[in-house]
Amino acid sequence: MKLLTVIGARPQFIKAATVSRVVSERDDIREVIVHTGQHYDVNMSDIFFDQLSIPRPDHHLGVGGGSHGAMTGRMLEALEIVMSGENPDLVLVYGDTNSTLAGALAAVKLHIPVAHVEAGLRSFNRRMPEEMNRILTDHASDLLFAPTETAMANLRNEGLGDGRARMVGDVMYDASLFYREKARAPDWAGVMRLDERDFILATVHRAENADNPVRLQDILRGLASAGLPVVLPLHPRTRDRIATMDIAIPDGVHVVDPVGYLEMVWLEAHCRLVATDSGGVQKEAYFFGKPCVTLREETEWVELVEAGWNTLTGANPEAIRAAVNAAHAPATAMALYGDGDAAERVLAGILE
Ligand code: UD1
Ligand code: UDP
Repeated sequence: MKLLTVIGARPQFIKAATVSRVVSERDDIREVIVHTGQHYDVNMSDIFFDQLSIPRPDHHLGVGGGSHGAMTGRMLEALEIVMSGENPDLVLVYGDTNSTLAGALAAVKLHIPVAHVEAGLRSFNRRMPEEMNRILTDHASDLLFAPTETAMANLRNEGLGDGRARMVGDVMYDASLFYREKARAPDWAGVMRLDERDFILATVHRAENADNPVRLQDILRGLASAGLPVVLPLHPRTRDRIATMDIAIPDGVHVVDPVGYLEMVWLEAHCRLVATDSGGVQKEAYFFGKPCVTLREETEWVELVEAGWNTLTGANPEAIRAAVNAAHAPATAMALYGDGDAAERVLAGILE
């Protein structure tokens, strides 16, 4: 069997690493990896291939930057050429980025079956680019691998709950189990004495926050007002907006470059709490037993809010300060994201 995997953005490298590892153990499956180029800085792309031992991409499309339509369109055109040449039995896509949608669309138009890992997530906010990517990808796919029961229910509600959908758990949970022993401190952690201090680990990159100067300034102000040092590995998008929109970095907020996955896991394991608008980082906070303050009005990972691990604050500085001060890990942790064998279940679903 020949699988063709389409990846392009940071979280997809982490998700695909777990599935690629189990696939590589099989002699009867060949995986062709296509990198769209959506993320291209060394610390947004190459570092994950190195740290997570992901095979080098067989094809690199070099499509990064630009508007949503231009980026997705250029990927679609290039992917069609690659898929026509490779003629795979199945195309595998992950998550909800423009690379995901382009991969699913290119395959379905060539009548190649598509499998979507992390299917069924919904924020019910149709202004989010990711929401349209998810909905369209799910409806174009032949196999839907859902990470949670909530995602399964969402698929059923859209008429997609038939034989093509199955709950497998979350491949990011698998990754957190596999790599937690390999976690390592960033070079600068010693200078900042992070292993002996309480700190907030924060990330901000979601378009609704990064592109809105009022929200972005409010978030930074709210985080700083809680009185704990804030470590902010900053996505290049947000770094660019801070410079061009003249946003002030308050005292106590330490901006650093994006870190590798092994360093990120170390920071998640050592912080007091996480504040983020990232999808993946919300869950990783829980995997490492840390409460999370989510800098959005809604989340796809509702079970964490219901279980008391996650508080939604939007960009309101007072709400952020109050949530940070009140944050604590609930006494009980449940298995919300499967048994740590999601990648094996994805492979079993494909083979079946
Ligand atoms: C994308 C995904 C988002 C995901 C995020 C993960 C879409 C619509 N969005 O958002 O769902 O949560 O990736 O991080 O697909 N840039 C660089 N270097 C890079 C990558 C990006 O400088 O290596 C800058 C460029 O100015 C680029 C901007 O960041 O235009 C935005 O990048 P893009 O991939 O369009 O969106 P993300 O915000 O990264
Ligand atoms: N991540 C990382 N380095 C960073 C920030 C995030 O390795 O500086 C990892 C994080 O641990 C998680 C993934 O990137 O596994 C989340 O990606 P991101 O927040 O970019 O996207 P989202 O999950 O919101 O789509």
